[in-house]
Amino acid sequence: MRIDVVSIFPEYLAALDLSLIGKARQDGLLQLKVHDLRDFTTDRHRTVDDTPYGGGAGMVMKPEPWAQALESLVATPAAGTPAADQVSASERVETQIAPTTPVVDQVSATPVVDQVSASERVETQTAPTPVQPDAARPILIVPSPAGEVFNQALAYELATEDHLVFACGRYEGIDERVLEWAAEHFRVRPVSLGDYVLNGGEVAVLAMVEAVGRLVPGVVGNPESLVEESHSDGLLEYPVYTKPSDWRGRGIPEVLLSGNHAKIARHRRDEQLRRTAERRPDLILALDPETLDTADRAT
Ligand code: ADE
Repeated sequence: MRIDVVSIFPEYLAALDLSLIGKARQDGLLQLKVHDLRDFTTDRHRTVDDTPYGGGAGMVMKPEPWAQALESLVATPAAGTPAADQVSASERVETQIAPTTPVVDQVSATPVVDQVSASERVETQTAPTPVQPDAARPILIVPSPAGEVFNQALAYELATEDHLVFACGRYEGIDERVLEWAAEHFRVRPVSLGDYVLNGGEVAVLAMVEAVGRLVPGVVGNPESLVEESHSDGLLEYPVYTKPSDWRGRGIPEVLLSGNHAKIARHRRDEQLRRTAERRPDLILALDPETLDTADRAT
């Protein structure tokens, strides 16, 4: 999977060099690149923000650096990837972003396209932007407290994608027109980590890349550990214990020492249901009743 992250604080994402995600990058399972938004500015001060139209507190991220940064990601396959090596120069031109607003004659204000004959059109018209099918447009995730809430189901969905781009906003957010414009080239998804406000998107990206990256086949060594964890079946996970069996006067549930696998499985499922009902009753209400067996209902 290819992942691009655009931020004005690339150092924030250094944690993605560590642990499982860092190893997956080394192993080539994740091609993750962090880009500095300021590299796409053109002024001496590398300005990325300006005052909000309509007034109000704080600053808003300017649209043009974002457009430049995002265009660079659609046009270029990740360096060193098979895609980068295979795409020929002529093919690459086709995948670049063509202007989408019609070329307008300044005098008559009608699209130039309407003024030429069909035969001329073939020669003179700039190629219209092909409407890319969904799979050809990468997903652009814009972390925002105003987005849909990130959860395990979304992590699973994103883990099936070939290319994810994360746009880390700061200040009061990114000029809204960037998201509108980007929808022509990306499947844009504003996503929130939860109902609280962070200082920017970077921390949310760390969480989302870890949650998605670990679901990419091969990243977690033992895929069975993904099956029994919280949220994989809509429930919280059961409590776990390790040696010693008696620790500071506290024992463990007897059944875990019984060797009876069916009984242990039943005990763990009961614990999942009990814990979920106590801590997250909203998850119990969201369960599909079809997934519950008779013993579940008794718990
Ligand atoms: N940026 C600021 N707050 C956020 C949140 N709750 N989730 C994702 N991105 C954010």
